[in-house]
Amino acid sequence: MGMLELQNVDKVYRSRGKPPVHAVRALDMTVKQGEIVALLGSSGCGKTSTLRMIAGFEDVTSGSIALDKRRIEALPPARRKVAMAFEGYSLYPPLTVRENIAFALKAQQLSRGEVTRRVDAIARLVEIEDILDAYPRAISGGQQQRVSLARALVRDADLYLLDEPMGQLEPQLRAVLRGRIKGLLAERGMTAIFVTHDQTEASALADRIAVMEDGILQQFASEKELKSRPANLFVASFIGEPPMNLLETELARADGGYRLSIGSDMAFHIPGGAIDAVARTMLDEMRHVRVGIRPQKVAVGTGDVRVRVVSNQWLGDQSHVAGECAGRLLIAVTPSKVAARPGDTISFGLAPRHLHIFGADGNCIRHAEVS
Ligand SMILES: Nc1ncnc2c1ncn2[C@@H]1O[C@H](COP(=O)(O)OP(=O)(O)OP(=O)(O)O)[C@@H](O)[C@H]1O
Ligand SMILES: [Mg+2]
Repeated sequence: MGMLELQNVDKVYRSRGKPPVHAVRALDMTVKQGEIVALLGSSGCGKTSTLRMIAGFEDVTSGSIALDKRRIEALPPARRKVAMAFEGYSLYPPLTVRENIAFALKAQQLSRGEVTRRVDAIARLVEIEDILDAYPRAISGGQQQRVSLARALVRDADLYLLDEPMGQLEPQLRAVLRGRIKGLLAERGMTAIFVTHDQTEASALADRIAVMEDGILQQFASEKELKSRPANLFVASFIGEPPMNLLETELARADGGYRLSIGSDMAFHIPGGAIDAVARTMLDEMRHVRVGIRPQKVAVGTGDVRVRVVSNQWLGDQSHVAGECAGRLLIAVTPSKVAARPGDTISFGLAPRHLHIFGADGNCIRHAEVS
């Protein structure tokens, strides 16, 4: 159980005296049964709004939501079989931690022994056994967050929605819980969507990542695909650390392929055979394109782009070298130490096969070849 289909979902917040806020736009998204999905995007891009519409705490302005082919967008939250852990925790102050978690099981009519067993098991998983008898006001923000998480995970639901479930926690505890939660979700075949700001967390936990910006789903794919085939400039610059190098270039036809150049300082030739017919038709209409290359694909010490070194840092397992050429900054990442000092001139190599090409609308026209 747990296949979720969002079709053309829109959310517009209207409040008197203020301009409407279009928080989610024409969202189409299908989450497979048993899949773990991360919603990733900058603050205000519509992640929480999306989860709240699925859970039923916020109406959809238009569009449909179906869970296992059953339309749910008009149902009250309690009838959706969706469990959600919030950003704001929202624990009941008069109940202890144990009672807060057990409360989520009320509708399931389990024996008292079974409730105790389940609460204990989930408390152990998120490491809150020692505060089960405390009241919410007497525990820390990080503990409250884990109680909220436990309260969602303890339920039998068709879908689990977790909004920044570990945002308040120390990195070490986060990493441990991440592993355990992943294990629990996988073992029970649970379908889950969680929100995060953290790319590492998204990659570690999720089968697929939905990248949102400005209320619009930019791309929904595996981490590998987002990195190797970013759909547009937003995804290209958002995913990956350090971000992809992006350069505005002039485009001209040359020798059956294309010449991409930046004044007389840098030029790349991309053979016609390396570009498919659809992309060729688009490129034939263009005079300027943006090219992108991952820092990890920029060769250091070889190649024909001469750069002036701006900084060179060894991070213990890799070097980050920033070089300037024709007023543009290029970042290269290599696994070895680089001898250059700021002010030195060295070579960078930008192989045409590693170049992504983006059109004026920001969409990717040609991806780098996978190597
Ligand atoms: N109840 C509301 N009334 C009016 N506007 C709202 C309301 N809730 C959210 N918004 C607006 O809708 C947009 C999306 O908000 P949302 O909370 O979904 O973003 P988010 O991606 O979860 O951000 P964050 O990472 O900061 O939690 C924002 O511009 C926000 O200000
Ligand atoms: Mg949010």
